[in-house]
Amino acid sequence: MSTEAPIPFSHPLPESLADRTVLILGGSSGVGKATGLMLRSLGARVVLVARDADRLAAAAADVRAAGDSTDAVVTAAADATDEKELQRVVDSIDKLDHVLVTAASVSFGSLFDDHGGRGDESLTTRFNAGWNAARVTVPRLPAGGSLTFLSGDMIDRPQPGGSVVSAGVGAIEALTRALAVELAPRRVRVNAIRLGSTDTPLIRGFLGEDADAAVTALGAALPLGRLGTAEEAASAAIFLMCNYNTTGSTLSVDGGQTLV
Ligand SMILES: NC(=O)c1ccc[n+]([C@@H]2O[C@H](COP(=O)([O-])OP(=O)(O)OC[C@H]3O[C@@H](n4cnc5c(N)ncnc54)[C@H](OP(=O)(O)O)[C@@H]3O)[C@@H](O)[C@H]2O)c1
Repeated sequence: MSTEAPIPFSHPLPESLADRTVLILGGSSGVGKATGLMLRSLGARVVLVARDADRLAAAAADVRAAGDSTDAVVTAAADATDEKELQRVVDSIDKLDHVLVTAASVSFGSLFDDHGGRGDESLTTRFNAGWNAARVTVPRLPAGGSLTFLSGDMIDRPQPGGSVVSAGVGAIEALTRALAVELAPRRVRVNAIRLGSTDTPLIRGFLGEDADAAVTALGAALPLGRLGTAEEAASAAIFLMCNYNTTGSTLSVDGGQTLV
């Protein structure tokens, strides 16, 4: 479908997201949950999706508490790599304006490791979640609607043992630019956020028992002296949703990490 009209004007401040509906794939933790909290405080409706139903329910309780209308938060336990499950979720939503995809698997191992049998997930989960999200949501998105994907600094700063992670973020950034061109005639925008080390349950899961000390030590080695926060990443996602002149962009939120 192509529309003859240019993309509409919309006020580029976050307040313009009031009453919009945002689907968050990866909404039970880290950046996805922080974005849900911020969107609720702006009066948006959110649909949180993740696989673990208990963690999802706990996140939804927190997100509901951030706004004044508890029915503005909906959850659906689903695997973003399963297109049929995602289609079911999207069919159950009345209205949809923006989509954020944070779902990904991250595992490390050298070329000859089997990554605990999960190496290919690090490569494919991020891409498949983004691809499926686009396939099932784009027919529902209005002019000005958007998809936002998550990439990471390992595209620019590869580490030994991180090949599949680097390849996965490379794939999502390439998909971002390609879909931005393909979907521009529909006036649907596609952007990515390239995160540096950010203090979320994901990174803490790699840091062992004294994660607080490890977070401090890791942050001290970065140009700005600390890790990013999930809220700083969430505010980038919100910027990309409400700025209607932004598509095909990869916005770095990395504290300068990729410069050194
Ligand atoms: N934190 C960092 O330092 C960092 C740095 C660079 C890039 N990133 C990227 O930023 C994104 C967000 O990271 P985060 O730190 O917020 O991670 P997180 O705290 O681990 O959250 C990931 C979320 O995605 C969900 N998820 C994972 N696989 C899924 C699937 N197949 N289907 C549906 N939901 C799924 C998880 O819930 P379930 O497991 O219950 O499904 C969880 O809600 C990721 O793409 C990550 O690679 C993070």
